[in-house]
Amino acid sequence: MTEVAANKAQSSLPDPDESGTIEIRQLGADNIELIREIDRSEHIDTQYTVKGGRLHSERVGFDVPQWDSEGHGHHSSARRITEFRPIVESGAALLGAFIDDLLAGIAIVDPSFDGSTAWFAFLHVSRAYRRRGVASALWAAGQEIATSADATSMYVSATPSGSAVGFYLSRGCRLAEPPHPALFSKEPEDIHLVCPVTS
Ligand SMILES: CC(C)(COP(=O)(O)OP(=O)(O)OC[C@H]1O[C@@H](n2cnc3c(N)ncnc32)[C@H](O)[C@@H]1OP(=O)(O)O)[C@@H](O)C(=O)NCCC(=O)NCCS
Repeated sequence: MTEVAANKAQSSLPDPDESGTIEIRQLGADNIELIREIDRSEHIDTQYTVKGGRLHSERVGFDVPQWDSEGHGHHSSARRITEFRPIVESGAALLGAFIDDLLAGIAIVDPSFDGSTAWFAFLHVSRAYRRRGVASALWAAGQEIATSADATSMYVSATPSGSAVGFYLSRGCRLAEPPHPALFSKEPEDIHLVCPVTS
């Protein structure tokens, strides 16, 4: 595990529980297996769709379970690792957020995805660590990496949940018009967003 971005990207955000600061580390591609350690479980109470070029929210109520640790099914950690390993091995940055040396979240950022557009390809914060700035710290580190690669925008294909869309809207993202063709055909149910890259 390397700490290439540790000094530059270390967050100064306060930890609300005062049990440790959020540290962002850029990890080697072989650390992609850390995805298994993320608790992605969540109760979803809001879901977004796009109608007529506008975001619509609706109340829902269902639980997303943890990754399936067995097999290679759609909701398995193995599937996610297989999907994202080549992206990281091709040059995307794998970022880990740590609190007291414990993994709190992971992000993957491809700073040279398509011309001057970077791609925030993956973001998960473990359930126990949410709403304390972990995703914000990963986002800030991703923005720095995108800036260093001269990207001017960051593309996100977001899970249509209230938390994911709420997070990206809070970062200044707006509906991508039009969505990126390749990413849209891959995840047509996602909310496709684009955000300015700010240094
Ligand atoms: C979406 C997710 C990454 C947010 O992580 P987080 O560390 O809790 O986010 P932060 O604490 O940095 O939140 C920053 C802001 O985002 C918005 N936000 C975060 N969670 C939200 C939620 N559940 N509902 C609405 N807005 C939310 C808020 O504006 C929040 O600021 P506030 O806490 O001051 O109100 C996390 O909930 C998660 O991992 N969810 C499951 C996986 C997922 O959906 N990943 C995204 C796939 S594209």
